[in-house]
Amino acid sequence: MSTFVQSAEKRHLEHLAIIMDGNGRWAKQRGLPRVAGHQQGVEAVTRIVDECVRHGIRYLSLFAFSSENWGRPRQEIDALMGLLLQYLSSQRQKMLTERIRLRVIGDLSRLSEPVQSALVDVVRETSQGQTFTLILALSYGGRDEIMRAAKQVARHALDGHLDIDQLDNKSFSAFLDTGDLPEPDLLIRTSGEVRISNFLLWQAAYAEFYFTDVLWPDFDAVELQKALAEYSQRKRRFGLTDDQTEPQIKESND
Ligand code: FPP
Repeated sequence: MSTFVQSAEKRHLEHLAIIMDGNGRWAKQRGLPRVAGHQQGVEAVTRIVDECVRHGIRYLSLFAFSSENWGRPRQEIDALMGLLLQYLSSQRQKMLTERIRLRVIGDLSRLSEPVQSALVDVVRETSQGQTFTLILALSYGGRDEIMRAAKQVARHALDGHLDIDQLDNKSFSAFLDTGDLPEPDLLIRTSGEVRISNFLLWQAAYAEFYFTDVLWPDFDAVELQKALAEYSQRKRRFGLTDDQTEPQIKESND
């Protein structure tokens, strides 16, 4: 096991989230169509899932398609959905063999019927996987997710199933798409952009951020190790003092 693997464990990196950015620029730099960048982006996804499993990371959330991405040209949306379908059919058996569980978050009702049903099938088939959870954010926006959760909370309150005065961070979180999942410890964004772009707005409240200029199709095991090494140097205080957080008491946030 490498030093980086050990340090990731030491700092309890349980959940990694990634904003995979730069596919289009990667393709443009090579005079290729944007879809070629997305194709290489899928290769990077496959690579990084393997690396996360190897590092003992338990959850990986990937921002695969944002609510705003619906505004892209139809051809690019169709290409992305095609790549997603290919990814699901090519990875399904591997997920089952390696006990990898697939989860999806986002407003899935906006996805086409074939995409929805392929997702539902793989999510159901892999639901017992306990080695690793891959969370794909599709048609996802953090504000939209919080809004949908707020509407559900309101409905429960109106139906008399929920006492609004009892609502707290923990019980509200349960209404989010990520309800039963841990919060991300580290959020990586590739391609030099330094913003969160509506990804896991609520859940990333105490996440560490790591930004790299590397474009997503070029993100590999070495780049992941750099991010993990940096994360292992960070002091996470969750709003407390240094004295209070030595040794780390992540659970204090719950
Ligand atoms: C950002 O690059 C990337 C996306 C909008 C889509 C990410 C999708 C994939 C990596 C492939 C599909 C995923 C799976 C899991 C099968 P960009 O197009 O915004 O790049 P640019 O900013 O350089 O134009």
